Amino acid sequence: MEQDYRLFIEKVKRKTGIDLSLYKETQMKRRLTSLYQKKGFHSFQEFFQGMERDRELLYAFLDRMTINVSEFYRNRKRWDVLEEKIVPRLLTKNRNLKIWSAACSTGEEPYTIAMILSNFLPLSEIKILATDLDENAIQKAKIGAYQERSLQEVPEQMKRKFFFKDQNHYLIHEEVKRTVTFKKHNLLADPFDKNFDLIVCRNVLIYFTEEAKNSLYKKFSASLKPGGVLFVGSTEQIFNASQYKLEPIETFFYQKIE
Ligand SMILES: C[S@@+](CC[C@H](N)C(=O)[O-])C[C@H]1O[C@@H](n2cnc3c(N)ncnc32)[C@H](O)[C@@H]1O
Repeated sequence: MEQDYRLFIEKVKRKTGIDLSLYKETQMKRRLTSLYQKKGFHSFQEFFQGMERDRELLYAFLDRMTINVSEFYRNRKRWDVLEEKIVPRLLTKNRNLKIWSAACSTGEEPYTIAMILSNFLPLSEIKILATDLDENAIQKAKIGAYQERSLQEVPEQMKRKFFFKDQNHYLIHEEVKRTVTFKKHNLLADPFDKNFDLIVCRNVLIYFTEEAKNSLYKKFSASLKPGGVLFVGSTEQIFNASQYKLEPIETFFYQKIE
């Protein structure tokens, strides 16, 4: 790795706790190089000095490195599997499901989980922990106002039931919001809670190195109850799941071996 980027990684880690060496290098470097060039800098070193002087630059950096794209019912068919197969299976054992949406971005994912569970349980009985590294995204998630394009996959009846249309935005109902607790959490640095029935972690592992993924699968597995399920993104199959005490039960769903 070239010196300029390596030193930048070290300094960013000291300043923010974010370890860029655990993200795929070529991809991350490309994203950040185009940002610093746009801002008029010539090297990572110069850019870091700029970030030290100007908080707006730090926010621009955070915004560029966390890719917040999300939508409700992203890859809809997978959510149908969650609804038709996984949730009924989990509910046979226990009605008080402990659920974590990890790297939840602007909230579409945990709110999707809540809407699906509302077909089985009253909203007042649903509790979901939702976390992300990016505080800005979490703020947006708490507000819960979305553009039409992030609702494209939402079933019509759910749209009518749980959203209020306000000019250009769709606002998610308070009773859905109340099911979700948002927290800042760095998957690559912070401790994990335990005893989850369901962990949904989608479309973030693709940005991490193999080494980081490997250690995350171990940690997710240790955080699941026996019989609990990990739901990953549609490009994120786990090869050799059994080495993490996980077993594929549907495509993109892994159960902790009991
Ligand atoms: C592409 S979004 C995925 C959102 C949602 N899970 C989905 O599938 O639609 C990736 C999210 O991962 C978050 N992220 C990136 N690195 C992270 C880390 N180390 N810990 C926690 N979240 C992280 C970003 O802030 C971003 O919100």
